[in-house]
Amino acid sequence: MTPSPLSPPGLERVLFTEEQVAARIREVAAAISEKYRGRDLKLIGVLKGSVFFLTALARALDIPVKIDFLAISSFGGYSASPPGMVRIAKDLDEPIQDEDVLLVEDIVDTGFTTRYLLQTLAGRSPRSLAICTLLDRTSRRIVQVPVDFRCFEIPDRFVVGFGLDHKQLYRNLGYIGVMNPDKS
Ligand code: IMP
Ligand code: MG
Repeated sequence: MTPSPLSPPGLERVLFTEEQVAARIREVAAAISEKYRGRDLKLIGVLKGSVFFLTALARALDIPVKIDFLAISSFGGYSASPPGMVRIAKDLDEPIQDEDVLLVEDIVDTGFTTRYLLQTLAGRSPRSLAICTLLDRTSRRIVQVPVDFRCFEIPDRFVVGFGLDHKQLYRNLGYIGVMNPDKS
């Protein structure tokens, strides 16, 4: 692999190239545009991981969209520590009542984060509520969540890039790569 100043030291392989990510986002965006044709869609991004995916997705949609963000603090993530503790650290700026809402995630892993967000958002009476995720790792799912749109299913390995971080680094990689966090 060509070393780049951006590459994580523990990078093992590129899972999806920048071109593959862009092409897949275009496909998923076409499906989303089709489903919501004739309506305005509100994209809700979860800071910070989904920012890169949300902006790429929004650019590829050909329907009118609004965007809003929330931030969460979670304790757990991809590790051996007990998952499931999530709270909102920064809430949305606007209400979502009577709106068609698409929750945009970087990755659905155990499902705890997504379930918490779905329950919270559902309580605010949106017209509809669906999930779109860049990555889905169903092999680690603990709680079931309905994923309406997904770009890629991934193996049970730690990944970085296109918004996903290791200790806040590597979000700005254009590709998605498997890395060994112990070698970073
Ligand atoms: P959950 O387990 O589905 O609640 O996901 C928790 C969060 O862990 C995700 O939103 C990501 O921010 C983070 N995460 C899970 N897997 C990975 C990974 O492979 N790389 C980087 N972050 C991850
Ligand atoms: Mg993270």
